[in-house]
Amino acid sequence: MRLTILGGGGFRVPLVYGALLGDRAEGRVTRVVLHDLDAGRLSAVARVLAEQAAGDPDAPEVTVTTDLDEALRGADFVFSAIRVGGLEGRAADERVALAQGVLGQETVGAGGIAYGLRTVPVAVDIARRVARLAPDAWVINFTNPAGLVTEAMSRHLGDRVIGICDSPVGLGRRIARVLGAHPGEAWIDYVGLNHLGWVRGLRVAGRDELPRLLADPDLLGSFEEGRLFGPQWLRSLGAVPNEYLHYYYFNRETVRAYQRAEKTRGAFLRDQQAGFYEEMRRPDAAALTAWDRTRAEREATYMAENRDAAGAGEREDDDLSGGYEKVALALMRAIARDERTTLILNVRNRGTLSVLDAEAVIEVPCLVDANGAHPVTVDPLPGHATGLVCAVKAVEREVLSAAESGSRTTAVKAFALHPLVDSVNVAHALVDGYTAVHPGLAYLT
Ligand code: G6P
Ligand code: MN
Repeated sequence: MRLTILGGGGFRVPLVYGALLGDRAEGRVTRVVLHDLDAGRLSAVARVLAEQAAGDPDAPEVTVTTDLDEALRGADFVFSAIRVGGLEGRAADERVALAQGVLGQETVGAGGIAYGLRTVPVAVDIARRVARLAPDAWVINFTNPAGLVTEAMSRHLGDRVIGICDSPVGLGRRIARVLGAHPGEAWIDYVGLNHLGWVRGLRVAGRDELPRLLADPDLLGSFEEGRLFGPQWLRSLGAVPNEYLHYYYFNRETVRAYQRAEKTRGAFLRDQQAGFYEEMRRPDAAALTAWDRTRAEREATYMAENRDAAGAGEREDDDLSGGYEKVALALMRAIARDERTTLILNVRNRGTLSVLDAEAVIEVPCLVDANGAHPVTVDPLPGHATGLVCAVKAVEREVLSAAESGSRTTAVKAFALHPLVDSVNVAHALVDGYTAVHPGLAYLT
């Protein structure tokens, strides 16, 4: 089995490789092809993987290439985890938005739109090449904004592209833990868009345990989302939102926290990772140790501004290993070996949420087997959540349409319609600001 990783010089690739190393079963991945535009990053990551594989005769063989078509030919699975514009681009997304007093997070609000406008044309090109060169491959999309990018690719690959995110899994795991339930025995009733979903119930042995959590202030104060949103708000909602909804429900506070931060998240990661890749140029550097130290620091500071704004304190140890690679591996195993399982994934809606059309990519529990991911039936969302989901999906559609037509006017419309952009004038200023700093947006005219 051959896995191609696009963005193969990316910082999180060793997580995926580590998961592959732990997989000993028949039909596992035996060959990994890393593709990246940057040969220096490729060799840095390849060094980490070599240290991970040291002493393991069965470790998947690793090759690297900067030729995209070569990377795609013969792939059984393609993981796409690219970052168009790099972390400097992410930092610029934040800066331009904050100058207008709005949020520049990489997936939410103005920043997510800017990042989407840059990424969609590249993702579509990849999807077209996969359709031509590896038509039987399954594409697993990690690239953020994951829901939007998966939808763009699905227009060329249909249900052969599946988007993944670890935040719903992490949320489900935390809720199960505080309720004393085994995550493997619990059914998590979760639905929405990527980074915009809600847990409405957690059933164990046919009983919904979520009301017990919502009724207990001590339990609510004992996990990340409980501290971020506060017991009262969770009780009012009757649900537990994905952590990214903190940017919506506490928008003012999160924008202010970002403005006050010494460095925004993108700027922090840009500098931190530049240090890592620089260190990897030294022939005597201990690659795995340096990578692991950098990873630990990244995980400990994840959403630090949000936790600051909410007075939520430090992250818990159990939450520090994201699980992103576990979702990826579980998905591949289910497809490659027909190991039927249930995972929360980004797939086409079909008829799951009746307020959206069949092609809209949503995030929902899916039954996965050798035929792919099949969304399960879920209860409709309440009105307030439906409102947000429909508004954000409408924005995503404007982004897709701007990326296809190159229309600047449509790009302005995308920003202006977003619930976290509070004026059409701001939308104009954002498009001006973003096109001035991002060469990848030169196509907007
Ligand atoms: C979570 C999100 C991902 C995101 C990751 C890293 O797992 O679901 O979409 O890529 O965090 O975030 P960071 O701010 O560290 O890049
Ligand atoms: Mn995510």
